[in-house]
Amino acid sequence: VEEWMESAVARDTSTKPIVLGFSQLGRESAWRLANSTSIRNAAAESGISLVIKNAEQSQTKQFEAVRSFIRQKVDVIAIAPVVESGWDGILQEARDAGIPVIIVDRSVDVKDTSLFVTTIGSDFYEEGVKAGKYIQDRMRNHPGLIRIAELQGTSGSTPSIQRGEGFRSIFETRADIIFSQSAPADFTEDNGKQVMKEFLQVPEDERPQVLFAHNDEMAFGAIQAIEEVGLKPGEDIIIVSVDGSRKALEILASGKINAVVECNPLLGPQLMQATKEIIAGRTLPKRMVPPEDIFTKESAGREMYNRRF
Ligand code: AHR
Repeated sequence: VEEWMESAVARDTSTKPIVLGFSQLGRESAWRLANSTSIRNAAAESGISLVIKNAEQSQTKQFEAVRSFIRQKVDVIAIAPVVESGWDGILQEARDAGIPVIIVDRSVDVKDTSLFVTTIGSDFYEEGVKAGKYIQDRMRNHPGLIRIAELQGTSGSTPSIQRGEGFRSIFETRADIIFSQSAPADFTEDNGKQVMKEFLQVPEDERPQVLFAHNDEMAFGAIQAIEEVGLKPGEDIIIVSVDGSRKALEILASGKINAVVECNPLLGPQLMQATKEIIAGRTLPKRMVPPEDIFTKESAGREMYNRRF
């Protein structure tokens, strides 16, 4: 058995469990690890044999994974796509092999949307809107120009594109709000810290008063960078992040982050349900979105103990 392969359930030839091949995009965040765990656990619980391959942020590796699933003749393929574009060809290969595809978490931008059965994942645009509305309200009495810095996720990925668009949509008519700095930091803590350090190397009166970090990890890195220049995160710079890990809620409760928009990684049960429905020949909605919330200092203390990642 190759290192990357694992079977959630030992293959029982008498009952012949459904085989699901899942191409996970990476391990960049607590969100991602929780997403993989949720999918493994749900597969084991529902008797689905799972073959999971981690692409470590490489779309090419995701293509290789899909081709290996096709060679193995899995029943269903699930893909959490690292970026949106470039999927037409490989999805056509899956179709030619007669294997249905489910898109998980992020989206694909393909001409023929019948190349996949359904997308199970968050409404990232709405997450950006929630973050924007929080900032709009939080800064309502702030006089003068407001400079917003933005730590984006992976370039070309759905959450980075859509969170950015949703967030900006709130400020379209606001001449007093400027996006002074915006750069990708790949959803990781190290890059979040590095890029925030660069953001802070400007004259004092050009520093951002607000930071929108597209995920928790980048906010953690940014907090370190902010403290290293002697500023107070959550006071000198208002911070909003996305995901809602327990660690993020603890930091939120401590006041160093001001709001966290929830993004739900626990997609395993829905994915297994969808897999079974497809095999049973049922039709599925084209898009399935989990319910999500926003956490503030007030709710963080209560909610952090309920967090599952
Ligand atoms: O696609 C979901 C995003 O990917 C999460 O917000 C982020 O933490 C992860 O890396």
